[in-house]
Amino acid sequence: MCGIVGYTGTRDAAGVVLDGLVHLAYRGYDSAGMAVADDDGNLFLRKAAGKLDNLLQLVGSEPVRGSRGIGHTRWATHGPPSAANAHPHADGAGEIVVVHNGIVENYAELKARLAANGHAFLSETDSEVIPHLIQELLADGAPFEEAVRLAAGRIHGAHAIACMHAKEPGLIVAARRGNAGGVAVGAGTGEAFIASDLPALIPHTSRVLFMEPEELVIVRPEGFELRTMEGRRASRSVHYVDVPRSILERGAYKHFTLKEIHEQPDAAQRALHERIAFESDEVALSELPLSKAEMAALNRVLFIGMGTSLHAGQVGARYVETLARTPASFEIAAEFSHRDPALDERTLVIGITQSGETADTLHALREARAQGARTACITNAPGSEATRAAECALLVHAGAEVGVASTKTMVSSMVTAYLIACALGQGRGTLSGERAAKRVDDIARLPALLGASLEMADASVEAIAERCFKSRSFLFIGRGLLEPIAREGALKMKETSYIHADGLSAAEMKHGPIALIGGDTPVVALALRNSLYPKMLNAVAQVRARGGPVIAVATEGSKEVTELADDVIWTPETPSLLQPVVATVPVQLLAYRTADLLGNDIDQPRNLAKSVTVE
Ligand code: F6R
Repeated sequence: MCGIVGYTGTRDAAGVVLDGLVHLAYRGYDSAGMAVADDDGNLFLRKAAGKLDNLLQLVGSEPVRGSRGIGHTRWATHGPPSAANAHPHADGAGEIVVVHNGIVENYAELKARLAANGHAFLSETDSEVIPHLIQELLADGAPFEEAVRLAAGRIHGAHAIACMHAKEPGLIVAARRGNAGGVAVGAGTGEAFIASDLPALIPHTSRVLFMEPEELVIVRPEGFELRTMEGRRASRSVHYVDVPRSILERGAYKHFTLKEIHEQPDAAQRALHERIAFESDEVALSELPLSKAEMAALNRVLFIGMGTSLHAGQVGARYVETLARTPASFEIAAEFSHRDPALDERTLVIGITQSGETADTLHALREARAQGARTACITNAPGSEATRAAECALLVHAGAEVGVASTKTMVSSMVTAYLIACALGQGRGTLSGERAAKRVDDIARLPALLGASLEMADASVEAIAERCFKSRSFLFIGRGLLEPIAREGALKMKETSYIHADGLSAAEMKHGPIALIGGDTPVVALALRNSLYPKMLNAVAQVRARGGPVIAVATEGSKEVTELADDVIWTPETPSLLQPVVATVPVQLLAYRTADLLGNDIDQPRNLAKSVTVE
């Protein structure tokens, strides 16, 4: 949550910082701000409440000049979204500026002490104590980088900060403690960059260093120096990240979310890349550090995650149970780690987190690992905290997802979970011969099936959305493997259109929710052809009998559905294990089109942020 950027070099820092903020806006958009310093010791601060456009306009009308700058895009925790509460925050003399991601848990105590020493505060944030703390340490004689290190050490709570002093040309100091989101440092030629996340760096450099917790980095145009929080020098190799710039461009699409929904066939292909050996019909997951004996010894697989990633985990658990014949379940990560779960080395805990930063999921993974369980994460973020929290990381390679609502990363996560289930099945001897060959053939066809699903949904969803976008509530229902997709459809509808929606098993309807049925509550029924299809038809008939409008998502050629439903969104004939992936497309598009008709800012829905680094 919150995005920080920094630049030092010879270019116009304001341009680079603002561009970085544009690419990180998905991390929070309650306010934004930046500070730029020139070589004569002048510091210029610009801050605006609301979305980034407001800051862009402000800088347009009040331009700043300088070759060093830091910027911030905020998801408010302490203090409402306002210009005063926007970062960067400065010390009393206006010489030290700080951008902060995280929470200063002891800010009240620090603020009271600083105020007693004569420091005046201009905001209601916890973050503002940091520049004052640095100023106090500087006054005691510490050099700037040392003052930042000591100040970071006095803050309780995980955080990432980037700091500049007006009178320290070329210098930016960043610190990272605990997990409040990552900090990546990009190396250029005669210039350097800092960012919470790769999208801000990709346009400028492919040489990136990911800071680890408890580290400090001293950044100058000519290079950077890494230190531990104890002040010792540290070294680590720089990563080469190879991400095409086109991934950051919206192209002809109206929103990134729509672009990312349409990228799903490619995303699925990338998740499969080099993980299937067709000659042997085997799935090869070199990242999974379990021997055949260890796989055979597993007695439980547990998927954890939050929101959309949890829905992917719910599907993943079904895959493991079906393909690897191992008891598998799923759980909300935030609940799992607070209930003292019984774990041992025969349990494999798989955390799904596209951002690799979700505090609840990281906490749960660490907890599981500490208790001796085997752990893995499925993530779209190389170098993220999740890749360290778990024993091993399976990258989904979906490419940057800019829309705040997760779309293609969910599809990629389900594909990766399918591959894990196949690998476990092979290792445990439950998936071999023709069955294994069939599963491998099926998943290899998935990108094409997703392409077909997109085409079919595109043909009908717009007209359906036009008929129902004024509804006050939606219900999404499904059975078996499609139940998690009903939940996902409801989540997408809620977060993009702000219409109330609920997703549940169709079997639950007659136990209460059917009371909600009436003309104003469309029911989206995931009625693809599979073993539960007859039961879904019954559920649809029961809704229709009570006057509820039904939008069915169905397998092409299913005549029975046409007779029962008001509208049908077709999907291609798909093996039942892959139906949840294929059915995700129409529910995403229905939510998207509904939200678009309502004129919502779909890429940045209100109150949300792309990575949730606070518990
Ligand atoms: C919904 C959405 C969220 C995330 C959740 C977990 O569209 O994006 O529900 O799925 O916040 O995020 P990650 O996957 O980053 O752990």
